[in-house]
Amino acid sequence: MSSDISVKVGSVELKSPIILASGTCNFGHELSEYYDLSILGGLSSKGLTIKPRVGNEGVRVAETAAGMLNSVGLQNPGVDYFIEHDLDYMDSLGCGRIINVAGHSFDDYVAMIEKLDPHKDKIDALEINLSCPNVKAGCMSIGSDPEQIKLIVSALRERTDLPLWIKLTPNVTDIKTMALAAQEGGADAVVLINTLLGMAVDIRTRRPVLRNNTGGYSGPAVKPVAIRMVSECYQVLDIPIIGCGGISNYEDVLEFMIAGASAVEIGTASLVHPTCPVDITEDLKKWSEVSGESLSSLTGTLKLW
Ligand code: SIN
Repeated sequence: MSSDISVKVGSVELKSPIILASGTCNFGHELSEYYDLSILGGLSSKGLTIKPRVGNEGVRVAETAAGMLNSVGLQNPGVDYFIEHDLDYMDSLGCGRIINVAGHSFDDYVAMIEKLDPHKDKIDALEINLSCPNVKAGCMSIGSDPEQIKLIVSALRERTDLPLWIKLTPNVTDIKTMALAAQEGGADAVVLINTLLGMAVDIRTRRPVLRNNTGGYSGPAVKPVAIRMVSECYQVLDIPIIGCGGISNYEDVLEFMIAGASAVEIGTASLVHPTCPVDITEDLKKWSEVSGESLSSLTGTLKLW
């Protein structure tokens, strides 16, 4: 008996559905000391911006009962430094090379694409981050407005042939409207979901635990929200979905795929157990071997009541 865990996200072929989520693996250097990252379907870089950013003041990360809050604030070395120092390294890893692109304005996103497009031979997809909840301007506010989503995505579509995966925020009333706007703009896929806006309070100081007051909530507690959004969007979209939110074992991956995901991203779980993607990959292979089903055949097989 053999197993087949390869998947396709539009034109992008991945050896496994597992992608490391942006912001939880930097550019791969640190995690590659723990395991061979070539087993992965892909790795999504830390969100990059035109200029380097030091990020928000600490405290920036807080554990909660069923997840984690972060308000990192897009700390990154800037796209020029990344291209010069880290892109070749990501290219050498032997897994899908996904570059997460963040910005504060329309012009930022356009400028980022103009910087990255000449390096298309080392990039499998651009993950356009319209969803970071931790910066004052742009990102999540752009991703909460369907007109702006469509405007930006179509401007990027005109400037690159690289697959555009649009990472959307769950902090909206109707995620379908946002996903459809991305599709109308010419997106190749949507990534659902980025973090939920949250807050934790220190009862002694009566101040928010995070210095930024609020942060993005991730981890097991957000999984049902993410699955619901994947399922809702699968019913209306023609483009593929990459599911993300609280995945920590192979059954979570199956759940996301049945709901409509073509691939998935793992983030918070890999901060807790850095090698969990290895175990999940092995378990997915075993599942495919024993069931006789290819993983990709699961996508969207949910039978709604
Ligand atoms: C951050 O850097 O604040 C998190 C990035 C994101 O949520 O997109």
